[in-house]
Amino acid sequence: MQIDIATYDPRIPLADPYPTYHALRAQAPVHWAAPAGVWVVSSHRLMREIMSDDETYGQAYVRREVSRHGEAVHDQPYFQMFRRMFFMMDGEDHRRLRPLFARWFMGPTRTRELTPMVERMVGQVLDELSDRESFDVIQDYAHQVPLRVISEILGVPQADSRHIAHDIEDIAPVVESVPKDAEVKRRADRAIVQLQDYFRGLVESRRRNMGDDLLSAMIQAGDAGGFADEEELLANVLLMYFAGHETTTAALGLAVLALHRNPDQLALLKRSPEIMPTAVDELMRYDGTAQGFSRSSDCDVVVGGHTIPAGAFILLLIGAGNRDPDVFADPDRLDLMRAPRDTLSFGGGAHVCIGNMLARQELRIGLAALLERRPDLRLDTVDPPISDFKPSLTRALTTLKARG
Ligand code: HEM
Repeated sequence: MQIDIATYDPRIPLADPYPTYHALRAQAPVHWAAPAGVWVVSSHRLMREIMSDDETYGQAYVRREVSRHGEAVHDQPYFQMFRRMFFMMDGEDHRRLRPLFARWFMGPTRTRELTPMVERMVGQVLDELSDRESFDVIQDYAHQVPLRVISEILGVPQADSRHIAHDIEDIAPVVESVPKDAEVKRRADRAIVQLQDYFRGLVESRRRNMGDDLLSAMIQAGDAGGFADEEELLANVLLMYFAGHETTTAALGLAVLALHRNPDQLALLKRSPEIMPTAVDELMRYDGTAQGFSRSSDCDVVVGGHTIPAGAFILLLIGAGNRDPDVFADPDRLDLMRAPRDTLSFGGGAHVCIGNMLARQELRIGLAALLERRPDLRLDTVDPPISDFKPSLTRALTTLKARG
């Protein structure tokens, strides 16, 4: 396959992006994508180099919003919140805030401690579906599990999760690299104010009744001087929903789809559930949700022989890196016995995903329980049309109907 590099826009999702990625990597592993105004990198080796070099490359979000919308963007509630999330920061502020959360999520005993709760949440959702012959794997299952898990972790009452998820959905488009219109931004700003009010109230009541949840831990961290002010605390608590919910929902949905597209591998997993931990890594390599993220540099850089000017945006197409034949033999084959090494699914370097252990655990428990409790599950289609995917670089199905 050949693609027309001059018109290729990496932000436009495809039902099956992988043939395009292969063509791109072969034709131009580093190229200027004029329609998107970004440099696109599709080679695994070059992406690894960039994401490991935090001195040279930084997060692009703040720079991108200011370059698109001008300094006036600083007055918008959505921007005021996102720029205070450590995900969007570099340097000293990132080094100050990330450990507060990383210590909690990446502690050596955390996975073991969380297992009973994750199993309970998965069990609850499956119980609620037990008398339904047909259901939507995305809306009724994959969406529900991570939402309940992150709410439990933070100590947010489950009854409030639904409106939180609704507000988050209104806000999510503003972090996308695709340009957004005024209405999208207005809706996001409204939802942000609602969420901030809700969490401000929750922080106040939690202060009177502290628990062993993540929110209590962050309030204590704040009292010890970890956060500059309450707005920073709130932004980073909300980050847990932004970073941890939609991604895990999407990954669970894509994993179910990949297994049903590869019935031999589905049968293998049912026969040998002990391979689940590495099967999850392979499923995420094969068809992952984070297809790309951006970086930029304050100085000119040379990547794969191309000089990229200071301040330009660089899109690391990690969905392409995970299918790079230089790293993964027969990359287009889903092989649950592969135990893939050096996948890019959770990024790398200073910003490597702090929730990767939790996400893997949710996928392992969520898939195992689904296979066990719905052994005859069949999808209505294993070839969803492009209209069933979100218009986003976060690859995600909006619906996946199943019965059985
Ligand atoms: C399958 C699910 C997930 C995927 C595919 C995923 C993927 C990623 C990737 C690729 C990055 C790096 C982005 C960059 O370098 O710009 C990242 C960062 C991050 N992830 Fe995840 N993630 C997932 C689940 C979670 C969960 C469950 C949480 C926590 C509740 C979480 C929290 C974070 C945070 C806070 C960051 C920012 C880290 C930093 O900037 O230092 N993620 N994630």
